[in-house]
Amino acid sequence: MPIPHELRARLDAFARVQLSLTPTPCHALKSISEKYGAQVFCKRDDLTGLALGGNKCRKLEFLVAEALAKGCDTMVACGGIQSNFCRLAAAAASVAGMEIHLVLGGDRPQGAAGNLLLDQLLGASIHYVESTEWDTWEAEARALAERLESEGKRVFMMPVGGSVPIGILGYVDAFLEILEDQERLGVEFDLMVHASGSGGTQAGLVVGKELTGWPGEILGISVAMEKEALEEHIFSLASATAGLLGGKVVRDSVRVDDRFIGEAYAVPTPQGMRALEELATKEGVILDRVYTGKAMAGLLHLLDQGLLSGKRVLFIHTGGQPEIFS
Ligand SMILES: Cc1ncc(COP(=O)(O)O)c(C=O)c1O
Repeated sequence: MPIPHELRARLDAFARVQLSLTPTPCHALKSISEKYGAQVFCKRDDLTGLALGGNKCRKLEFLVAEALAKGCDTMVACGGIQSNFCRLAAAAASVAGMEIHLVLGGDRPQGAAGNLLLDQLLGASIHYVESTEWDTWEAEARALAERLESEGKRVFMMPVGGSVPIGILGYVDAFLEILEDQERLGVEFDLMVHASGSGGTQAGLVVGKELTGWPGEILGISVAMEKEALEEHIFSLASATAGLLGGKVVRDSVRVDDRFIGEAYAVPTPQGMRALEELATKEGVILDRVYTGKAMAGLLHLLDQGLLSGKRVLFIHTGGQPEIFS
């Protein structure tokens, strides 16, 4: 499929700070392909480079550019104690010369490990909130931003997970990169599968599909929200993002499978743990327990059921591995 230069030009019109080492590798998963009778490939967005990498680097390139354009010198972001997004927001802000404050929710840990250890290393000021409620974290983050503003700082409030249209452009860009991977590998994927949380990654891919006319399917494996609610949310994010680029998306392009969440967000599942073991032992690819393990559990289930026999499938590895050291 030809690379659509017009869409590339429209994307390039948005300001962006280079933070990632792209293009990320895209390679065949040979043992998995052989075992399940499909051609399975992996897009390594865990290897985006910045502070151990992950999907959020791509969104942050556009969001940090927006913050700098607004003249901000300080960033406030919030998430769970092991938030990958907060780790990468801390790295992005530090590299861009901004002060970074993280509001982290959950039980205050005894020591720092995993993402939290990296947050400290990246120079973030950390503010703990003893709550598991997102609304409380956000309210706390807004109050902190107001305090910092009153001290004369110019604060950029980072949206949750970076999942707003400007950030989502990062995954429209990733979609175009995947079209280039197709050319290089001489393959046309039938299906892309990845972990879907706040929905921004999937929204960007869906916009890429719709604006290029790519005929394959995109399937998000939900790690938190129920199918209907997440699909609606992604559709609305994708519509707003397509609007920035002068296009539209259709509801049918948004497909979510919510059968692999397990007990709750961030609680490991037996299927997810088996997926971690299978990818580690067969391919030397390390997944995480919160996002990519559950997404791979979903893909392995479809492969195991014979539903993807002979198909060309791309798994997008969105990162998250620091969590396994927590
Ligand atoms: C490792 C990893 N994978 C996937 C996701 C989900 O991405 P999104 O929130 O864009 O759906 C996240 C979000 O935090 C993540 O950290």
